[in-house]
Amino acid sequence: MTDHILIGQTLAFDADPFDVQPEDAARISSRGGVLIRGGRIAAMGEASDLQAAYPAAQVTDHGTALITAGFVDAHMHYPQTGIVASWGKRLIDWLNTYTFPEETRFGDRAYADDVAGRTLDLALAHGTTTLTSFCTIHPESVDAFFGAAAARGMAVVGGKTCMDRNAPDGLRDTAQSAYDDSKALLDKWHGKGRASYAITPRFSPTSTPEQLEALGALWQAHPDCLMQTHLSEQLDEIDWVRDLYPDARDYLDTYEAHGLLGERGLYGHAIHLEAREIDRLAEVGAAVVHCPTSNTFIGSGLFDMAGLKARGLSVGLATDTGGGSSFSMLRTMAAAYELAQLRGTALHPAQLMWLATEGSARALHMGGKIGSLSVGATADLTVIDLASTPAIAQRSMRADTLWEALFPTIMMGDDRAVAQVYVAGQPVKTA
Ligand code: GUN
Ligand code: ZN
Repeated sequence: MTDHILIGQTLAFDADPFDVQPEDAARISSRGGVLIRGGRIAAMGEASDLQAAYPAAQVTDHGTALITAGFVDAHMHYPQTGIVASWGKRLIDWLNTYTFPEETRFGDRAYADDVAGRTLDLALAHGTTTLTSFCTIHPESVDAFFGAAAARGMAVVGGKTCMDRNAPDGLRDTAQSAYDDSKALLDKWHGKGRASYAITPRFSPTSTPEQLEALGALWQAHPDCLMQTHLSEQLDEIDWVRDLYPDARDYLDTYEAHGLLGERGLYGHAIHLEAREIDRLAEVGAAVVHCPTSNTFIGSGLFDMAGLKARGLSVGLATDTGGGSSFSMLRTMAAAYELAQLRGTALHPAQLMWLATEGSARALHMGGKIGSLSVGATADLTVIDLASTPAIAQRSMRADTLWEALFPTIMMGDDRAVAQVYVAGQPVKTA
């Protein structure tokens, strides 16, 4: 087995940078090394020490580029790749006008294969090595997603999106078929290679209580699976949930009452939360997923990063494409920074990078396996050029610290900043 040493600036985290001084959470080496063996990180250290210890290893020198864990997108919709950046609607109209018509096409396996492959290639080009995706109601769309990920060696999370009301013809299942199809897909894919299945009710407005109940029962029978859904994204949506579920104490209660609140739950958006909802999410150790480019693009609101992290909530970061307007987790970090500024908090670049890697991995209960530059983790890595455009280069040239050098790329960078990506130790970009 050939050892492979990557050399560059390395960024690893020893702690959650929301719990300690952000700089103190990070371990930076200006000439660091990562030893890859059998697709995993086998050792880390100063480049010179690693080269001395493993003289037979193949070496790839990335110079001053930054070697980081690959980005982990904790919530997105691969079937919406073709309608990203569709103009002029807010959530419910946006779903009805753009999203649902597009999603009806995914019963066609060839079409689903095409979009799944395209989406994963776009993600990799942007330095994202793990996607967590909603598929469509069609089982074919789930097979296409996991199949495309397996062909690329990527760790992904996905699930059949379940909807049995308030969706057009051709895009509705039933409580029973949602259960049966989800179970069959889960049995087929969960734990196969690097695939993880997430039970996926789209959101309470498109499920009857019977469907939520059925999916809650399925989750109870398969507690090692994740469960992903949407929560409190827009005020109109919350009003609608109140009408549809008059007995519920709040939006989260529509899930809780049907067995869909738990530690392995992923609740996308979670913007307009009530105190009880925050308490319950914290008590059960569930994760919320921040989707900042989507929240600005669809006009949803200002996620309370500082407040929710201070409550100890697990928070992941995500593009939410196609409601989100970018495939880039750099652009997503920039939007998270801007939204936090609007709430009076300046997120540190260490906090942004942690959210995009380990924070998301922990939300997915995959901490230590992906999203971190640590011994034993799979070598899913992204190499970032900190001077990828003239505008970024002239700013980073003046930097005295890595954080100052990195922040212009977070704010202004895109796929041009992604110099190389490794999936389980294998380079994705050919020279
Ligand atoms: N809520 C329910 N479905 C969706 C979706 O596809 N995108 C977003 N942003 N919110 C949703
Ligand atoms: Zn979403």
